[in-house]
Amino acid sequence: MDAPLFEIDDLHVTVTDEATGAPIEILKGVDLTVRPGEIHALMGPNGSGKSTLANALLGSPEYQVTSGRIRFKGDDVTEWDPDVRAKAGMFLAFQYPQEVPGVPVRSFLQQALAARRGIEDLSALETRLAIMEWMKRLDMDPSFADRYLNEGFSGGEKKRNEILQMAVLEPELAILDETDSGLDIDALRVVARGVHEVRAHRPEIGVILITHYQRILDYLEPDVVHVLVAGRVVERGGPELARQVEEEGYDAWQP
Ligand SMILES: Nc1ncnc2c1ncn2[C@@H]1O[C@H](COP(=O)(O)OP(=O)(O)OP(=O)(O)O)[C@@H](O)[C@H]1O
Ligand SMILES: [Mg+2]
Repeated sequence: MDAPLFEIDDLHVTVTDEATGAPIEILKGVDLTVRPGEIHALMGPNGSGKSTLANALLGSPEYQVTSGRIRFKGDDVTEWDPDVRAKAGMFLAFQYPQEVPGVPVRSFLQQALAARRGIEDLSALETRLAIMEWMKRLDMDPSFADRYLNEGFSGGEKKRNEILQMAVLEPELAILDETDSGLDIDALRVVARGVHEVRAHRPEIGVILITHYQRILDYLEPDVVHVLVAGRVVERGGPELARQVEEEGYDAWQP
């Protein structure tokens, strides 16, 4: 068996309650292992901690890891800054992407790519070509690159933009937090096709797909499905588990 690409070991994460300043534990001991080339689906009811996990994995300062470890390619990255994780090849597509007024998609991607690859070995022309090439593969209109990041983007355009970011940055681990409730079937296909394209290019990429619905999994067959309830993984299985969740909901695991 391949060595793990990514390992989460007994992760506990708290956030600070704004009203009282007291810590609230959201994740209560999460384990998860991704091997090279695997697709993992993370499902769970609203508020179960899926986005908290994604944010903690990328090192968002609002989320405090109180115990447990995160390992990426053998390194313990638990204390690494978000930009160091990104440079090492971890990528997160946010559930609610921020608008960045006045910054065109192209400039944002150029900066992100320079940060990922090291600016010295990357010419402006190379970056431009990489972006154009991927936009073509993802069927995106070239004018999209000149729009301001996420400003007035529709839900589907935001997703497409994130898939473009993922493709251009060529991460080794991608965590995609889906608002697939807001996505039409075409947008779901864009996400799925984007992941397939990136995998064709980089077969060893590991993907963690956070999703509420089994339908995206019709396009992206997961190796493992994890069910997160109240901050704990309560069940693991193959694609059939996603179908069971879709039919029966989470009642069986409610605490
Ligand atoms: N920054 C924060 N401050 C306070 N509470 C937070 C914060 N982030 C998350 N929480 C709380 O942690 C719990 C888990 O939230 P999280 O966003 O991780 O859920 P989720 O599983 O992604 O839900 P959804 O399916 O609705 O996206 C919720 O009760 C939420 O209110
Ligand atoms: Mg969420």
